[in-house]
Amino acid sequence: MVALLSFFSILADRIRSAFPELYINYLRKRGVKVGENTKFFGSVHIDPSRPYLVEIGRNCILTGGVSLTCHSYDWGVLREKYGEFLPSSGKIVIEDNVFVGGGSIILKGVRIGRDSIIGAASVVTNDIPQGSVAAGNPCRVIMTIEEYYRKRKKEYLQEAKSYALELYKKTRRVPKPEDFWDEYPIFSSRNIDWENIPRSARNQLGSKPDVFLKSKPVYASFKDFLVDSGIPSDEIEKQGCS
Ligand SMILES: CC(C)(COP(=O)(O)OP(=O)(O)OC[C@H]1O[C@@H](n2cnc3c(N)ncnc32)[C@H](O)[C@@H]1OP(=O)(O)O)[C@@H](O)C(=O)NCCC(=O)NCCS
Repeated sequence: MVALLSFFSILADRIRSAFPELYINYLRKRGVKVGENTKFFGSVHIDPSRPYLVEIGRNCILTGGVSLTCHSYDWGVLREKYGEFLPSSGKIVIEDNVFVGGGSIILKGVRIGRDSIIGAASVVTNDIPQGSVAAGNPCRVIMTIEEYYRKRKKEYLQEAKSYALELYKKTRRVPKPEDFWDEYPIFSSRNIDWENIPRSARNQLGSKPDVFLKSKPVYASFKDFLVDSGIPSDEIEKQGCS
């Protein structure tokens, strides 16, 4: 019996990860509010017992292993000890444009303010003010979103170049644009048909193509990016560059 239940639990998990849009539609039908352009990356678990207590805003990203738990059966202990029934539940609200890192648990009665980031494996027990980066167990604000923005501005380019070089060193293959999911806007021309953008990258470009189109690439070409990453020019010539 236990084996059968585990099997169904694993199966449900796989289905949720493989078809996140179907899962989101199913949740909406059950009464969970999920805003437009909100995405689940991987298996996300939303408490099925009280769908009307869960609200997720627009443009949110919930990643693998995130769990929203708007009730608890902890009071079963009180029932046995005191002979009373004291059920426990509360609303969870995630406002617009919130990222929730992998494996985080959001408990009942919590509101996460808009434009916030919740770090991986956090346990969110209290409200998080808008515009925060918060992490840990219990989840606490570690910096503002502005501070995080400035930090990313300093670090992102070197990280992208290191990724390109590592890929080359490990495979001896000159990277292709489709190897770069998140990094694609760094080198891609904006004068490109949406359909010609690799699917892997298209998923990462956000809610509106015009955000991508209005921004500017750092490099004039993909080749310039590869050269600046430290990939030998003769190899790029020999293998060709997409
Ligand atoms: C929260 C996060 C965005 C912060 O990124 P960052 O600024 O580069 O983080 P840093 O490593 O500089 O950490 C800053 C401080 O926060 C702490 N911290 C960062 N992430 C944490 C986490 N998930 N849990 C607990 N503490 C965390 C660090 O220990 C550090 O503390 P210190 O100053 O006392 O040393 C990042 O750590 C994170 O968790 N990202 C989510 C990753 C994820 O879930 N990916 C899923 C696939 S998309």
